[in-house]
Amino acid sequence: MDPETLERLDCLIDEAGLEETDLIGAMQDIQRELNYLPEEAMRLVAQKIGVPLSQVYSIATFYKTFSLEPRGRHLINVCMGTACHVRGGVQILEKLKRILGIDTGGTTNDQRFSLEAVRCLGCCGLAPVIMIDGKFHGKLTQKGLDRILEQYE
Ligand code: FES
Repeated sequence: MDPETLERLDCLIDEAGLEETDLIGAMQDIQRELNYLPEEAMRLVAQKIGVPLSQVYSIATFYKTFSLEPRGRHLINVCMGTACHVRGGVQILEKLKRILGIDTGGTTNDQRFSLEAVRCLGCCGLAPVIMIDGKFHGKLTQKGLDRILEQYE
């Protein structure tokens, strides 16, 4: 990691706070900044806040919001909950895999999209649903996917 990025992360951690209770917030800020949590960043946050690296790792691997691999600029969450499953969620996921040329958990070569399958997104009335960068797209059809993806550079 280059010195400028490390310095930026150092500031982010300072701004989040240096108490143990600030740990997850600092990790979220780093995740937002880099789109993932590289080992060097996890070492830095552990050292600055004064917690074991293993604690940072266990948080990073427990919460889906964190990624240990570089993610794309846009994260697509495809709902695999019951209502979405019944209304074609699996076909939506398969179509997205074909369009993007990646598998679940993967990232496109141009770093544009990452694809994840998740449990119920909490808006079953809109099934089948995907969420891109926190925005819901519901009552999906396979045909409509290209137009939705076009909105994300
Ligand atoms: S099952 Fe998909 S939003 Fe609930």
